[in-house]
Formats: sequence, structure tokens, C-alpha cells
Amino acid sequence: MATRASDVLSERRSPVCKQESGRFQILHISDLHFGPPLVLNVAEALIDCASQLRFDAVVVSGDLTQRARREQFLAARDFMQCLPEVPRLVIPGNHDVPLYHLARRLLDPHRNYREVIDSDLNPVLTLPGAVIVGLDSTAPRSAISNGCIHAWQLDHCAEAFAKAPPHAARIVVAHHHFAPAPDYLRDSSMPRSKRAMMRFVELGVDLILGGHLHRTYIGNSLDFYPGTHRDRGIVIVQCGTSTSGRGRGREQQKNTFNLLSIDKTSIKITHYMFFHQSGFVPTSSHEFFREHGDTNP
Ligand SMILES: [Fe+2]
Ligand SMILES: [Fe+2]
Repeated sequence: MATRASDVLSERRSPVCKQESGRFQILHISDLHFGPPLVLNVAEALIDCASQLRFDAVVVSGDLTQRARREQFLAARDFMQCLPEVPRLVIPGNHDVPLYHLARRLLDPHRNYREVIDSDLNPVLTLPGAVIVGLDSTAPRSAISNGCIHAWQLDHCAEAFAKAPPHAARIVVAHHHFAPAPDYLRDSSMPRSKRAMMRFVELGVDLILGGHLHRTYIGNSLDFYPGTHRDRGIVIVQCGTSTSGRGRGREQQKNTFNLLSIDKTSIKITHYMFFHQSGFVPTSSHEFFREHGDTNP
């Protein structure tokens, strides 16, 4: 298997997509797991499909690699560079810190990520119509695979959203999940995720994008933390593994990504799934209307 996706995919770059006024689109991929779990023909199919779609930004919600090795990050970077050249927000996942090299895990866990992908682990991306805040939810010193969000990161969100125009979509991206998946696999969500969710409600967050669970689903904060803002929930969109053989639950051996279409009035999510005969194709869509009940603070 080729380690560097660019060896195979370098001819597949696409032109920049143009944004239409008011509505913008985000390609949401996750859990690439470059390294042994990568399924190369699926990665190629994703590049092919992305070249046919129109979107204004790419969000990658963590686990770019399997073991945080430099060559795996280089391959993941090459893959991402084969996507259309639009603004990109990337955050690390728990597989993007060393697992077995204890000294590096404790002392400098994100060294390879910072050197190859991005020195900023909590990036902010501003688009016409949206402010997207990425949060590093990895916890290499306190958990093996689970994560955490620190209080200072919630303040970081508040600072970023304070500059957002009133109707801008406020989007948070984190690798780990703030609420359990609506199935029976019993993955526990992050410690203190209720604290984070309540702060997100206060900040008028419209949407949370995540990965880690290796299966696609849509949830809503009201299902888990009704709190005091009961007429305004946050839409939670999880992405499965887009390019690896690590799918779980009903997405075992499946690969998925999301295409989000957002404007002042609605958030529409289309799930895409890979099939051997047809490549990535849309399999379902969901639309949520933004302006009802409380408005952004
Ligand atoms: Fe993962
Ligand atoms: Fe993960």
C-alpha cells in the first residue's frame, strides 16, 4: 500500500469553488487514519467525489493518522492538498498523539502534528456567514482515547464568537463527542461535556461537528442537556471515518462524509457513503431551520 497519497492522487487537484451569496457549503470529513487502516481506493474516490461538489470550506475533525507518525501526517497532508483549494480547518484527534512512546506522549504529544499540519491546535476560520472554531479535545496526559475541553477553550470560543455578525452561523468542531450516539454501543462522552454544552448554548452555537465514533449521525443538545434554553437546541453532526477500514456499528466497513449547506435560515446536512460500484453517493439529508425561538445572544 502506498504511504503517501500524493503518489496516486497528485493529478486530481481541482479548481477553487465559488461561493454563492448568502449560502455556503462545508465538506466535513473525519477519521482519515492514514497508516495501515487507510483504504486507498476509498481515499481516491473521495478526491473524485469532492472534485464534483461545490463547497467553500473543508473541515477535518481529527484522527488524520493511525499512530501520529511523521510520514502518516505527510500522507494526510498530501491527501488534503488534493481536495479543492478552499479554506480548511483541521483539528487533531486522539490518534494524532503518540500512544506507545510515553516520553513524547507526555512531553510533546503534538510535535508531528504541529510541524506537518498546523501549529495552531485551536484554529478559528471565518467565512462570509460563519465563524468556525476548532477545539483540540485530545487529552494525552489524562486519557487513552477519551478527551476533554478545558475552561480556557470555552473562553476562546466566546472571544471568537463575540466578533461574529448577528446572523453568522456559529460552529464548533471537536474530535470527541459531547453527547452519546443514539445507538447501543455505549461510548461515553467527554468528561464535563455538559459544562461545555451549556456554554455553547449561552454563546448561541448553531452547530457542533465531530468524529471519533466512526459512524455518522445527527443529534441535538436538547436530547441530553435541556438546560434553561429549551426552545433552542444545538445540532450535533458526527462524521464516520471517511477513508479508513475502522467503521463501527452500522458503518462497519463503511466510509462516509457530510456536505453541509448553510444560510441565514437553515442548516442542511447531506450524508454521503462509499459503495464499491458507485463511489461516494448521497444517502440521506436533514434540514434544520435556524430562526425559531431564541435568537443568537
Ligand atoms: Fe478515529
Ligand atoms: Fe478518535
